[in-house]
Amino acid sequence: MPVPNDPNLLVGIETGDDAGVYRLGTDLALVQTVDFFTPIVDDPYQFGQIAAANALSDIYAMGGRPLTALNIAAFPSKTLPLSILGQILAGGADKCREAGCTIVGGHTIDDPEPKYGLAVTGVIHPRRAITNAAARPGDVLVLTKPIGTGIISTGIKRELADARTVEGAVRTMTALNRSGAEAAQAVGVSAGTDVTGFGLLGHLLGMCRGSGVGAILYARHVPILAGVADLMKQEAIPGGTRRNLESVRGRVSFGRGITEEHELVLADAQTSGGLLLSVPRERAGRLVERLRATHALAWAEIGEIVADRESRIRVEL
Ligand code: CO
Ligand code: CO
Ligand code: CO
Repeated sequence: MPVPNDPNLLVGIETGDDAGVYRLGTDLALVQTVDFFTPIVDDPYQFGQIAAANALSDIYAMGGRPLTALNIAAFPSKTLPLSILGQILAGGADKCREAGCTIVGGHTIDDPEPKYGLAVTGVIHPRRAITNAAARPGDVLVLTKPIGTGIISTGIKRELADARTVEGAVRTMTALNRSGAEAAQAVGVSAGTDVTGFGLLGHLLGMCRGSGVGAILYARHVPILAGVADLMKQEAIPGGTRRNLESVRGRVSFGRGITEEHELVLADAQTSGGLLLSVPRERAGRLVERLRATHALAWAEIGEIVADRESRIRVEL
């Protein structure tokens, strides 16, 4: 795609960031993003909540505040009752209300496979956008949600996941990243992104490349959802997770004691994952304290940024 030449485009497509940032004036910029996908849980209302939380997350990953959203839906109206579409939209609407984001319209097409998501517009101060391009050596890496939702989604599809495991994944995927974004802005972080389809390792690598640094990740400090280890023993591993791991291998080295299960879960493709924040060491304690106080799902210090122009990641136990 050709790169647009517009001085007001502060964050565009070149850096692979979470959302575009467009300056409207000296103290106001738009943050814009769109995301939609096929159902990953059986309950249509929960699917709507997850898809909305996931779309809103890219605004939060930039440190922005969502203002308005448009529904994007595809639905097989000849084979499924319309009430199911209604439940999906209700889930999305309730999540947007919780986020203080107003749904102003949308569009639905007829399609054999249901799909749902949002195009979201948020606002931010032009100099306050949290990009993935400013992590600095010495920064501490903080993760705000546990990982493993890709493996659990595959477990659901294969009818291997028990009710408690599903509940844990749904709670994680429906949770807004709002408190994480607010904490990041209050404390002042160097860089941030949300952990989604490329997995923790893929998104960390994106941040390292964008910032021209490397990282050390401590596998035992990474929070993992209950039930994931069990599902991995039953081979419930998404194809996307295996591809993620293969695609980062050239840049990631695994230390002594790291098992194949560790490698896969760290690459697991997430839906509506947490924020991965790179924070100066002297502010890390305050960030963690704030995340804990605002009931984030996790506040784990999972690694650190190191100087490395080759943007390599070392995973230690
Ligand atoms: Co993102
Ligand atoms: Co996205
Ligand atoms: Co970002």
